[in-house]
Amino acid sequence: MYTEKVMEHFSNPRNMGEIENASGVGTVGNAKCGDIMRIYLDIDENGIIQDVKFKTFGCGAAVATSSMATELVKGKTVQEAVQITNKAVAEALGGLPPVKMHCSLLAEEAIHAALWDYAEKNGLKIEGLRKPKSDVHEEEEEIEY
Ligand code: FES
Repeated sequence: MYTEKVMEHFSNPRNMGEIENASGVGTVGNAKCGDIMRIYLDIDENGIIQDVKFKTFGCGAAVATSSMATELVKGKTVQEAVQITNKAVAEALGGLPPVKMHCSLLAEEAIHAALWDYAEKNGLKIEGLRKPKSDVHEEEEEIEY
């Protein structure tokens, strides 16, 4: 059901934990399954993501996608990080079963929420970033499988 990469990230998640005094923190949940994900970003003065950590209270696919999402955004600019979609995270994991695609949406939205928090704190506008929802459940129907 799961690719080896998903299993590997689930068993050995990267960047798990939290960042004190993070530049941006984003928390999103899915009311339907009850899972919650929180992302912490440490962003330098040039807008580069120097560090990222996550905490996920959720299913295995949510843990694996959080882990992969943190790997994808690390070292990127905030502008590049906005472009990372849940599909890209799932693809980087070698795919997810269709019923688990919604879990990857948590990762995308948690990153967006953390970026939104960072932008608000610094009075910035990040192009292409819209105000994230705290509950991704309503968006599930929009996912393309
Ligand atoms: Fe809720 Fe996976 S079942 S995030």
